Amino acid sequence: MNFDFSGKRVLVTGGTRGIGRAAVEAFLAAGAQVAVNGRTEESTHNAVAILGKNAIPAPGDISRPDACRAMVSHAARQMDGLDVLVNCAGVAHGGPVDEVTEAVWDATLDANLKGTFFCTQAALLFLRMSKGNVVNLASDAGLIGEVGLAVYCASKGGVVNLTRALALELAPDIRVNCVCPGYVDTDMVRRDVINASAHPDQTEAALAASSPLNRIACPDEIASAILYLASDAARFVTGAALQIDGGTTAGHPRR
Ligand SMILES: NC(=O)c1ccc[n+]([C@@H]2O[C@H](COP(=O)([O-])OP(=O)(O)OC[C@H]3O[C@@H](n4cnc5c(N)ncnc54)[C@H](O)[C@@H]3O)[C@@H](O)[C@H]2O)c1
Repeated sequence: MNFDFSGKRVLVTGGTRGIGRAAVEAFLAAGAQVAVNGRTEESTHNAVAILGKNAIPAPGDISRPDACRAMVSHAARQMDGLDVLVNCAGVAHGGPVDEVTEAVWDATLDANLKGTFFCTQAALLFLRMSKGNVVNLASDAGLIGEVGLAVYCASKGGVVNLTRALALELAPDIRVNCVCPGYVDTDMVRRDVINASAHPDQTEAALAASSPLNRIACPDEIASAILYLASDAARFVTGAALQIDGGTTAGHPRR
């Protein structure tokens, strides 16, 4: 589906790589002006340098509410407003429950849940003016549990229900939705899980087998869903958690 975002102003957190980068490129291809958030000045400027004149840098660590406020207002001032906020920045720390430290809990919840909330709060003024919308990156791990990912599951479950609560409270002016991807071929999975394992091929096959469609997703397959939810085609959609997971959360596979 071809979406038209001509004249629209979009901010994508965590937009320098992975799913966020795919979303940035898709919004740019659809005619939008896009503010690209990355955690550091360097990563953000490096990404924007090759994205063309409609991409502008908006660096800032979204795990800190003060940085969320400064970054969102900088982006909106640069673009003279804001139509779409995509809360994509996130981290995943795996490991057994017994080994979870308070530092891991805080780092995960601060980036995935607190950052999503405070970037959205900082964008409200602009989104109310534009009658805009928010798309959050949740996960299939926000809908079902996963062994070794308890903290990540808690953070993404929080994003799913935060999405619903915000959708209710901000209606009818601002729509709020989330996507729930399964495994996606980004650094979070390819570098940190598959290639970091003792047997990458077997690990990839195991991740693929968790989906009835028997593969992991490409980042642009998630970007398509983000653009749909952000577009006028989804004008009657709010509070939705859209699974893009090859059927992983549909139920029990055939035995
Ligand atoms: N890859 C998957 O399988 C998968 C599945 C479901 C959901 N997700 C979610 O999609 C989102 C994007 O993940 P990805 O796979 O592209 O991962 P990734 O690691 O490739 O990219 C994550 C991005 O978020 C940025 N980021 C992290 N913490 C930040 C902070 N405090 N401030 C600013 N930026 C920060 C990183 O710098 C990076 O650009 C995340 O929220 C992730 O939880 C990913």
